[in-house]
Amino acid sequence: MNLFKNKFISAIDSLKGRDLLSSADFDAEQTRALLELALNLKYRKKSINLGNRVLGLVFSKASTRTRVSFSVAMAHLGGQTIDLNPNVTQLGRGESLIDTTRVLSRYCDAIAVRTFGQQELIDYAHWSSVPVLNALTDLEHPCQALADFLTLHETFGNLQGLILTYIGDGNNVAHSLMLCGVLLGVNIRIASPKGFEPNNGIVERARLLAKEGATVTIMNDPLLAVRGANALYTDVWASMGQELEQVQREKSFFGFCLNKNLLQEADNDAIILHCLPAHRGEEITSQVMEDSASRIFDQTENRLYVQQALLAAVIGGKDLG
Ligand code: CP
Ligand code: NVA
Repeated sequence: MNLFKNKFISAIDSLKGRDLLSSADFDAEQTRALLELALNLKYRKKSINLGNRVLGLVFSKASTRTRVSFSVAMAHLGGQTIDLNPNVTQLGRGESLIDTTRVLSRYCDAIAVRTFGQQELIDYAHWSSVPVLNALTDLEHPCQALADFLTLHETFGNLQGLILTYIGDGNNVAHSLMLCGVLLGVNIRIASPKGFEPNNGIVERARLLAKEGATVTIMNDPLLAVRGANALYTDVWASMGQELEQVQREKSFFGFCLNKNLLQEADNDAIILHCLPAHRGEEITSQVMEDSASRIFDQTENRLYVQQALLAAVIGGKDLG
């Protein structure tokens, strides 16, 4: 017990000052420790007071869940957030990222960035002297993946050997699911239409990181992919920034809607996940969203707890108040 406690504390402490740019940035022990801390915050009502720390939210794309859950998480930790949407800062008038980030680092204790290119996020982290957290880029969505695996853990307990099938676009959400999932021993199957498979480099990275025999399988047949799966996951066909491809994508993704027929092929106890926002009737039917197997709104709620754990760790380390 003490050994476990010491391992947990040292894993949390090792995150102090760290950036989270990719789901692969933290190792298996650090990822598990964050989930453990999130569970403590959620069920044992563990209270952490970081003491009036400030999180800057630099969001270049729309957001409901990530923005609100980061703000509420910071409020629960005794701190606050500042909305630094580039349209209302000098960034939007051309002040350089280099200068802006150095300035923000002098005021904020951490910065959460939602933007397009992963390289831009890496640049923020390079110029920032405080932790930078990926609040979604075109390549990854690591905070989402933490909430997803917390939801799986709440449902099934042990994650090792579970099968999570993601049906749809090989996008940011799929990438973080692969990277975070294999660290935790979860087998990941991705079923995408031809030409919409996940990034090869991320697939290779996930296979290298895989723990406890976890596998990553990329397929083009959703029916095959859902057989025996413990969790079925989907996301929109056109992500933010791809709106002009919407009509073309609707054609390409024909047959990839998460519906009752696919659900029937999964394990009897399979759960349904979606990061939201959803386009009901496109990538998922309303019937499946409202099915008793849906854990979609628990998943949403868990964003709050994993981000609270993440902020507590990167800002406070083991001095959790
Ligand atoms: N799932 C998610 O990140 O939602 P938002 O885009 O609303 O933040
Ligand atoms: N793939 C989606 C996720 C939204 C949370 C997007 O990037 O728009």
